[in-house]
Amino acid sequence: MGHYLIPALLLVATGYVYRSLYKAGQLRAGARQPGEVVVILGASSGIGRELALQYAQRGARLLLVARRQDRLRQLVQECTQCNPLSQVAYQVADLTSDTDLAQLSRALDTWLTDNDNDDKHTPIDTAILCAGVISVRPFVDLAYAADSLTTPTTSPTTSTATPKPSPWCLTPPTLIQARLPWVTARVRDLLNTNVTGLVAATTVVLPRLGLAPAGRLLVVSSAAGKSGTPTRGLYAASKHALHGFFDTLRMELAPTTRISVCLVCPSTVDTELRNTAVDNQSDPNRPSSSPPNISATAEPVPNRQTLEEPSARADSDSQTTGLMPTTGSHPVPGSKRGKLSPQACAARIIRAADNTVEREVYIPGYFAVVPWLQLICPAFVDRLARQKYGM
Ligand SMILES: NC(=O)c1ccc[n+]([C@@H]2O[C@H](COP(=O)([O-])OP(=O)(O)OC[C@H]3O[C@@H](n4cnc5c(N)ncnc54)[C@H](OP(=O)(O)O)[C@@H]3O)[C@@H](O)[C@H]2O)c1
Repeated sequence: MGHYLIPALLLVATGYVYRSLYKAGQLRAGARQPGEVVVILGASSGIGRELALQYAQRGARLLLVARRQDRLRQLVQECTQCNPLSQVAYQVADLTSDTDLAQLSRALDTWLTDNDNDDKHTPIDTAILCAGVISVRPFVDLAYAADSLTTPTTSPTTSTATPKPSPWCLTPPTLIQARLPWVTARVRDLLNTNVTGLVAATTVVLPRLGLAPAGRLLVVSSAAGKSGTPTRGLYAASKHALHGFFDTLRMELAPTTRISVCLVCPSTVDTELRNTAVDNQSDPNRPSSSPPNISATAEPVPNRQTLEEPSARADSDSQTTGLMPTTGSHPVPGSKRGKLSPQACAARIIRAADNTVEREVYIPGYFAVVPWLQLICPAFVDRLARQKYGM
């Protein structure tokens, strides 16, 4: 009996992998059809922008959502130039604003209403939740303004002498108390966008996805959503939360809908993401890095081509002069080598969007070993991550 067990298990595993690969190659209903309806949240730059261009190239009907109106407007033009047959509209919305989300819901309704037949509800084939911001400081640096990167302490494992406490361990309680509001505000800033905003935006797109023959919901998480990542603690926490929520949503939707959910975990991609860091100011007395709310033209839903904005954010290039990737005196640690291009990343996301089988996608693919390595040799994964971020 024991002799047959391992070959039998291998056979079943091979069959499972083969079936998954075969199904992953099968196009789902509605994919790659002219006029395929795609909504991209977080489309104004980076990966979302590339997704928009690649979907436009294949003739999709696109709704692009983000805060920076100038970027969205420009992107609509570029999409139309690269394929005049694509129908592209945008909606300015801050996903952390209930008012904006309500307006987005109305805009979607207008955009998807068939003028010739009021009863016909056009479905959304694909929704991609790509909006996100990052954090870039080690937690003790954030919490105690400690220069944790430049003051390495004696490692207890390499020295027999009693280790000297790190300077931040001596932070006076009064300083901790004074800094606390700033720290919690940073945590809220990040979770508001990366978790609350995406979950709330899901409520807006889900019903129309449910009307599609095979609606596909893609959530752009990160490799940091599967493993802790030095200097990216808050960010990693937010991305881990997305896995908990969207894995659950997949299970809940399965019995009653044809919506499939896929979480995408890219490694480092060459985008402006680091400019969005919520914790990139070392002085608690300086104003928050949150972008200002510029306008509030809460007019009802506009025409199909150019949906209006309830509140808009100025272009990040002008906003981020003081937010370049530095934390106080030292540069933000992170890999500069081997960054993925947003084009390659977007192409892989679209491949994942075209089937219904892939539940979790790693970019590059070999990152799929990370969860396995964490089970088998977690300390090794920690070491690799520390090396990558220079800690
Ligand atoms: N770059 C990487 O190394 C990397 C790696 C793994 C995963 N990711 C993930 O990929 C996604 C896209 O990031 P990216 O690298 O392409 O960075 P990016 O260029 O900064 O794009 C972020 C997008 O999110 C939008 N956004 C941010 N906050 C928003 C809000 N409150 N409401 C509406 N839209 C908002 C931004 O638009 P506005 O500012 O105009 O609102 C922008 O379009 C993020 O979820 C990120 O976590 C990135």
